[in-house]
Amino acid sequence: MVQSISSSQDAINLEDSYGAHNYHPLAVVIAKGEGVYVWDVGGKKYYDFLSAYSALNQGHCHPRIINALIEQSKRLTLTSRAFYNDILGQYEKYLTEYFGYDRVLPMNTGVEGCETALKLCRKWGYDVKGIAVDKAKIIFAEGNFWGRTLSAISTSNDPVAKEGFGPFIPGFEVIPYSDLHALDKALQDPNVAGFMVEPIQGEAGVVVPHEGYIAKAFELCQRHNVLFIADEVQTGIARTGKLLACDHEGVKPNILILGKALSGGVLPVSAVLSNHEIMLTITPGGHGSTFGGNPLACAVAMEALQVVKDENLAENAQLMGEIFRERMEQLAEKSDLVKLVRGKGLLNALEIDDSPNSETAWNVCVSLKENGLLAKPTHGNIIRFAPPLIIEEEQIHDCCDIITSTILKFKK
Ligand SMILES: Cc1ncc(COP(=O)(O)O)c(C=O)c1O
Repeated sequence: MVQSISSSQDAINLEDSYGAHNYHPLAVVIAKGEGVYVWDVGGKKYYDFLSAYSALNQGHCHPRIINALIEQSKRLTLTSRAFYNDILGQYEKYLTEYFGYDRVLPMNTGVEGCETALKLCRKWGYDVKGIAVDKAKIIFAEGNFWGRTLSAISTSNDPVAKEGFGPFIPGFEVIPYSDLHALDKALQDPNVAGFMVEPIQGEAGVVVPHEGYIAKAFELCQRHNVLFIADEVQTGIARTGKLLACDHEGVKPNILILGKALSGGVLPVSAVLSNHEIMLTITPGGHGSTFGGNPLACAVAMEALQVVKDENLAENAQLMGEIFRERMEQLAEKSDLVKLVRGKGLLNALEIDDSPNSETAWNVCVSLKENGLLAKPTHGNIIRFAPPLIIEEEQIHDCCDIITSTILKFKK
């Protein structure tokens, strides 16, 4: 069925003609990936500095993960949850022990994981906290991004994501990010069941909250008997230099959501973790998914997580991230274009000194592509840099050379 396409323009035309126009990709057609590299249909090689929005922490086509995929796919791929299968229980034990939780609810995409966490939170709010029927409230932070479903956009303050898609889902309140005063005020309402937050806001432009925010927010939530829900779909699994971004402040969320790199970018695999009390509020029929917990996903995810441990990816992200930010700080001193460098581990961003509506960051990314490095702007004037965590020191210096020379030569 699959044919080889040798012209980038042909591939672009096909997507343009037959697909929905819900993305605006950079004009590069990727045909192969290995480790930190991808190749386009013409054979040109690039460093991948997006890693599919941090799904490819273990690098493209990691041989051990691909092997797990092949071996399991020859034996059993899907049973649905109408029956038991011989892999799911092993995976649940492995995952809960790996992250130190009692129980897991397996899902597929990140947005489903988040939606699941919110249902779980509401159910706990009614069954355990004793909130009156249909009164439960969940707090979010401005700039949050957790997908594009109706509930996800209901908590969004991005007009582009919302326009034309109302009416929105009630029971959500949005407060400023990195603002403990606003959180404390919102938590005064006894109907609040949970606070869902990204420890670093990825899609908002790698927004790092002030130091101590996560620890203090967690403490405030516990004081008010409110669940602290960490959306670590993008920040989790070693991306920020620790296994979880919440680990930087010693916080163990009441509910943890993971996705993306849980499968090393091989399949959509997400998970919601919590203790017995919270998880067991959901009973048969209360939630489910045909593909959630399928044996293929479970086998792949176990191998993907073991790779993170065996290859010390958190430590590597920490070290390579320090080198990256130091080199980018040096660039910022020489360049009028770079206003700010921020991030943790290998989740970093450069803020380009221009209005969010200008084309500059996009055009910088086009030049970077020409020079062999793929990155994409988020929110107009911010460029996120998030390579696979397996990147080596020589490679990160090579990439910093490419970014430095591209930006220093860049003319608006
Ligand atoms: C923090 C966060 N949560 C949830 C999601 C949604 O994940 P998915 O696109 O797999 O549904 C994303 C996607 O970028 C994300 O960054």
